[in-house]
Parts: sequence; structure tokens; C-alpha cells
Amino acid sequence: MMSMNYAFGFSLFLLVLVALNIYFFYTLNTAGTKSPKFNVQSINLDLSSGVFKDIYDYLNYLPSNYKIKNLNFLPIQNNLLISFNSSHNINTQDVWRETETWKSEESLFPHTDGAPGKILHAIQTSQVALVDNAPKGTQLKLLLLLEGKQKIYFKPKRYNLSHVINGNIYGGFDRHNSEVFAYYLAMVLNFRWIPPSVIRQIHIHKDIVPVATAGLKRTMVKNDSGSLCIYGKCFYCKINETVCPNSNGVIEGAAILYLDRQFKIYKSPWRRSYSTKKMEWETDNDFCKKVKGILSAKRLLNLIDVAIFDFLIQNGDRHRYEVYKDQIVLLDNGKGLGNAMVDELDILAPLYQCCILTTSTWQNLEMISGGSLTETIKKLGALRGQRLATDDHFKAVERRLLKVYATIQYCIGKHGRSKVFKNGLF
Ligand SMILES: *[C@@H]1O[C@H](CO)[C@@H](O)[C@H](O)[C@H]1NC(C)=O
Ligand SMILES: *[C@@H]1O[C@H](CO)[C@@H](O)[C@H](O)[C@H]1NC(C)=O
Ligand SMILES: *[C@@H]1O[C@H](CO)[C@@H](O)[C@H](O)[C@H]1NC(C)=O
Repeated sequence: MMSMNYAFGFSLFLLVLVALNIYFFYTLNTAGTKSPKFNVQSINLDLSSGVFKDIYDYLNYLPSNYKIKNLNFLPIQNNLLISFNSSHNINTQDVWRETETWKSEESLFPHTDGAPGKILHAIQTSQVALVDNAPKGTQLKLLLLLEGKQKIYFKPKRYNLSHVINGNIYGGFDRHNSEVFAYYLAMVLNFRWIPPSVIRQIHIHKDIVPVATAGLKRTMVKNDSGSLCIYGKCFYCKINETVCPNSNGVIEGAAILYLDRQFKIYKSPWRRSYSTKKMEWETDNDFCKKVKGILSAKRLLNLIDVAIFDFLIQNGDRHRYEVYKDQIVLLDNGKGLGNAMVDELDILAPLYQCCILTTSTWQNLEMISGGSLTETIKKLGALRGQRLATDDHFKAVERRLLKVYATIQYCIGKHGRSKVFKNGLF
């Protein structure tokens, strides 16, 4: 009799414990949010919904160390801030010479000894010697020749920071701030295959008109109030969709170091169809097996790194990718930061379908938990006096980082650590 009572009492105790747990995780995930963000979205995605549900289960039970700062990151953050905080006594010629002759298997550009800060300073302040429409592309983009003969791309601002892009993940014009945010994000993640990028202001009458090519002048119009605006030359450029200066005559944009290199271009296996048609990766759970048969392990792991990067900013538009020295170069990052309320989990398809990850990527990701990621991006931007996104976007990036952790936990749960983490071979 006694033992029955005891057993009954004990099960009651367990029941209460479980209930408390559920309540705890429920409150944890809904606290401070109007809508429950950690619910499975897109139930209509029949194939992925099972995977999404599993990932969200891991998210709800994510170990607390992913929500607090990793103190090992502090010296890394410090080094980053130092290398970006060097803009005194800069000889622009030296900077351009160093970037042009840079040869490394580790990074696209010099990234130590204050080089990044010097490069950004030179991009931001060198006088403009010539402006033209950029030769190719789908979006309005200028090509600037700076004094000292360095070329940069200039993607003009189309929206203010709080503008929300609704609809398709790849919709809208490029976001100039997304380009620059992406550069700092890559630096924090230790992804070194990306061109330096910084917000720059150019004056329509002082910097552009006196040195504009005839071709560029042909794509400029006066708007109804007499301001000189640019509609450019590109696939989607339209005469009624101009970029106009602000009331001070200034056009803001992302200034991106131009790479005079030969890239190889490949279609991404995980590209979207850009129509209602479903791509193979959206209907085949074993899609990764096929990709493994085609791509090298190195390339596949590289694509998975890129997917994590794109998921954090919500760039769903990387239908093709450029390769240099057998590394994917992160070009064209303007389609991120469209809507801070949306996390399209399927950008992570390469990760949750293949369930492999480079060990060093995992070590980098574990470093930046608990707010360090966006704190560092904010600090790097602030060194140049720039705010790169609204608070909603910074919060969204942190929320997505938790989802990346959860996806990796899901993979570990499914296959075990030794199958997930790779050193480049499998
Ligand atoms: C930013 O853009 C949105 C939508 O385009 C607009 O509603 C808002 O007033 C703008 N904010 C500022 C500060 O210009
Ligand atoms: C510009 O004109 C095109 C048609 O040529 C139209 O589809 C588009 O909506 C217009 N854009 C704006 C901003 O009015
Ligand atoms: C023309 O451009 C100026 C900025 O350069 C802007 O303030 C004004 O609203 C524009 N006018 C029209 C009719 O678009």
C-alpha cells in the first residue's frame, strides 16, 4: 500500500515537472513577442514541414549556452575592432597597391594589421575620377573610378532602413545597407572571401556630373522638381524608377571594392525557380545525395557556409555563385534585410538536407552566441559612423542564429556529431 502511494506521488511529481518544463519553454519563446515566432511557418510545404517541425523542437530545447555570450570571443572581437579602426595617415596609393597585388589562399583581401580599416577609409573618401554605368547586372549600379585608379561599384540607396519588403524573398530592389551589413557579418563569421564594402555619400553635382561618361549622362533625367536623377542601365532599369539625390544633392550608396579577377560562375543546386514551379531540392528529401555525386566535398561545405550566411540576412537570391581560387566569393549581397519579421528556413536547405558542416565554421558560430554577433557588427559600423540596420533587423539576425544552432542540433540528433562535423573530407 505504502509503495503504491509512493509510486503515485512520484508520478504526480514527474507530471508537474514536465508541465513546468513545457510552461517554461512556452514562456521563454513567447516572452516579449506579439506573435509566437517559434512556430512552424509554411505548413503547406509538405516535404519540409516535418523537418521544420523537428528543427523547431530543437529550438525550443536549445541549451542555454547558445543564448549567452561566449567569453572566448572577446579577444577576437577586440582584434576585429582594432583592424577596422585604422584610418589615420593613410596613403591611398599604398592601400590600392596592397589590395591589387594581394595573393593568398586564405582571404580575398588583406585582413590583418589594420588593413580592413584602411581599405574602407580609402573607398569612402578617395576622390571620384570617373563615373559610368556598371556594364552588367540586373540592378542599377554605377562603376566609379577613384583617384589612384581603383574601381568600385556603387549601389545606390533605394529604401530607408525601416522600409519593409513584403512578398517574395527575392523581391524589391537591392538594399545598399545589406551589402555593407553582409561584409561585416562575413568578417565576424571569419568568412574571408568577400569584397570590402562601406556606405559612401557622393554628390550629384560635385562628384558625378563633372566626371560622368556620356553613357551615364544619357541615363540621367530631371524629375518634376528639377532634380537630376539617374535611372541607369541594367536588366531591370526603368526610366520611371530613378535614384534621386536628397535635398543636399547627396546620393548614398554601398561602395564595394571592384574585383578585377576572373571568376567562374556556377548555378546553385539549391536555387529557387522564381516561379510557382518546385525545384528538385524542394520535393526530394534525398536531394543532397545527388549533389554529393556532383560536387566536391569542399564545394558542398562551402555552399553550406554560404547558406548559413544567407539565412542570417535572409538573402534568398543566390541562384548562382562565383568561384575564385576554388572558393565561393560572396558577391551581390543586396537582397538581405528585406523583412525583419520573416525567417525563411528553407534558405538553410543545404544544411538540413546534407547535415554536414565544416568544423571551423561550427567553432566560429559557437563563438558569437548571446548577442555578440550583432553587437560586433554594430560596433564595426559605428567606427565609420554608420548604422546599418534597424533594431528589428539586428534582433532578427540573433533570432536566426538560434535557428542555425537548432538546425545543427537537429543534424547532430539525427546523425551524431562525428557524421556532422567535417574537416573538408568525407
Ligand atoms: C521609410 O520608408 C517607409 C516606407 O517606404 C515610409 O513609410 C517611412 O515614412 C520612411 N521613413 C523615413 C524616416 O523616411
Ligand atoms: C514604371 O513603369 C513600368 C512600365 O514600364 C511599370 O511596370 C512600373 O510599375 C513603373 N514603376 C513605378 C515606380 O511607377
Ligand atoms: C525630385 O527629386 C528630389 C530630390 O532630389 C525630391 O525631393 C523630389 O521629391 C523629387 N520630385 C519628384 C516630383 O519626384
